Amino acid sequence: MPDTDAQKATNNLPKDHARITFLYEEIARLNRAYYEEDAPLVTDAEYDALLRELAALEAKYPEWRQENSPSQRVGGRRLEKFAPITHQIPLLSLANTFSGDELRDFATRCVKLAGKPLTYVLEPKIDGLTIALTYENGQLTQAATRGDGLVGENVLENVLTIAGLPGRLKSFAGRLLVRGEVYMPKQAFVELNEQREADGETVFANPRNAAAGSLRQLDAAVTASRRLAVWLYDILLLEGADWPATHMQSLDFLRAQGLPVIPEVFSGDIEEVVGQLEHWQEKRHKLAFDIDGLVLKVDDEQVRADLGSTAKAPRAAIAYKFPAEEVETRVLDIHVGVGRTGVLTPLAILEPVWVAGSKISKATLHNEDNVAARDIRIGDYVLLHKAGDVIPEIIKSLPEKRSGDERIFVMPHICPECGSAASRAEGEAAWRCPNRSCPARVREGIEHFVSRQAMYIEGLGPQLINQLLAAGRIHDAADLFSLTMADLLPLERMGQKSAQNILAALEAARRRPLGALLAALGIPYVGSKAGKLLAANFGSLEALAAASQEDLLAIPEIGEIIAKSVVKWFADSDNQEFLQRLQAGGVEPQAENQPQAEAQGAFAGKVVVLTGTLPNLSRNEAKAKLEAAGARVTGSVSRKTDYVVAGEAAGSKLEKAEELGIAIIDEAELLAML
Ligand code: IVH
Repeated sequence: MPDTDAQKATNNLPKDHARITFLYEEIARLNRAYYEEDAPLVTDAEYDALLRELAALEAKYPEWRQENSPSQRVGGRRLEKFAPITHQIPLLSLANTFSGDELRDFATRCVKLAGKPLTYVLEPKIDGLTIALTYENGQLTQAATRGDGLVGENVLENVLTIAGLPGRLKSFAGRLLVRGEVYMPKQAFVELNEQREADGETVFANPRNAAAGSLRQLDAAVTASRRLAVWLYDILLLEGADWPATHMQSLDFLRAQGLPVIPEVFSGDIEEVVGQLEHWQEKRHKLAFDIDGLVLKVDDEQVRADLGSTAKAPRAAIAYKFPAEEVETRVLDIHVGVGRTGVLTPLAILEPVWVAGSKISKATLHNEDNVAARDIRIGDYVLLHKAGDVIPEIIKSLPEKRSGDERIFVMPHICPECGSAASRAEGEAAWRCPNRSCPARVREGIEHFVSRQAMYIEGLGPQLINQLLAAGRIHDAADLFSLTMADLLPLERMGQKSAQNILAALEAARRRPLGALLAALGIPYVGSKAGKLLAANFGSLEALAAASQEDLLAIPEIGEIIAKSVVKWFADSDNQEFLQRLQAGGVEPQAENQPQAEAQGAFAGKVVVLTGTLPNLSRNEAKAKLEAAGARVTGSVSRKTDYVVAGEAAGSKLEKAEELGIAIIDEAELLAML
């Protein structure tokens, strides 16, 4: 009699082998989408499941494991776009746990290895991308992405654009390597996606992808135009000071140097830490940034060092991952909305469900291609989550639950509001209504104008805007500034007090900062951040209206797309007329502080490039002096460069500066100017 188990195993051989081959290819494909295109094709949970399946098969057939197996890799591949940086300290990953009991097991292992009772630190696990920063002589000299953990990408120029990350430490003058997470706050992510959808661009799947896509930009101007932030959470190396005794003290040290340190940190024994887990399920939704779990670390730094690490992860730290918040619901209908820029957006109307702390009854489907790619039909059961913990999103349909009564959605080729023929431009995913007077576009444009990200006119909600439009009292946002008590009081449910409040809010809005007005105008690609920048650099609407594309490109953070868009908008006669009517309504935007005014010094606001070897100063010293005098020191010469400081053996950068007619100075002139 043959051994049945052995027989079964033999029979499975070809199948398992084929499965391993498939998993190698599939995971490689998913990695490419995730790490190189910042556009994940599946959820983290689905990806983890494939990786686990592969690891299990490889454990069964070790002889089939290839050297480059994705199961053995810490992270993604790096892009070829940026210069490689070999990490002095390899950037490891963390093992995952999913329950309090698994955390207790982890603690038991640590205590056994350490031979003494331990205290732990519990931190939020930020859903961003790892960054390793090097400060030398107090100066930020290097910023590297994780890459594969051994070699990352040099993204210093882009990191220097992150607000809240100092280029200089307060006092420490030794050498510090510190690890942290670059992330995009939830609100910035929501606004970026809104802007991208309005501009007919693809949206980011979550804040992490938005942060990755923003940081790994060849043009630092694009990075600067996104609202990235960073939290630091681990010292990798410290030379020139004693290593703090505990992790809590390490965080204090970083904080004292003016660095942004991860907040909401808790320390205690293992039972106290496990006791925290429950309240984090709710608390995570209240944070301004997305977290996908918590990290538990041994507090004693000596024990952390002694425990060391396995090939992939340190022994004295572990991740606790929140359960994926995915719920099932049904698509009752698919409506098509028209945005202020005319983009038609399919919107799923859902059977209401609770997910990640709120009740959801709608989810945007972005565009026609997305609905088709995910095969989402009217009547379908679907899996829903919140992208980045904030934007309701359908992950996939559940075709196995179909009854046969579901209907395939067809994108209308006419505007559902005004009936104009819509069109889809080549290379764009969006259908657009071309009619500027389309009632939906007008209404959405006014709602945008009064919104918090723009002119922030309180009390003017969608309902009131609709009433005013229906009464023929307003036709666009400029008309708001001619409203009187006599216009408001006859409206339904409008009392004396509310009407007074609205007029007071309008009065206050007349003197909003120029940046807010610019964001309100709906100039393509100009949101609140670009609005502020333009306001700070031009000071008035008139100056901006008169600016050429070159003038705009002279601002380091402004690239070609925004520059072109601004020039085109101000050249349009309808827009000019709109601005005149705003002015007639008493709108007088207030100039904002020049950002340069904040930086004091001989090089305030100037962009400087160093090239060649200087006779006395090292590259870092020159950079430090320039930055202390308010300069931004960048790596490549462009039209935005103000000065090139050239030393011995200066090469192509000097040539480029000569070609562009940029001021070239030597060390002596630099020192004299300083
Ligand atoms: S400590 C040796 N602390 O989570 C690993 N990591 O899954 C040290 N992360 O790649 C990491 N928040 O990028 C640590 N408070 C935190 C974190 C954190 C987010 C990321 C980190 C790491 C990943 C591990």
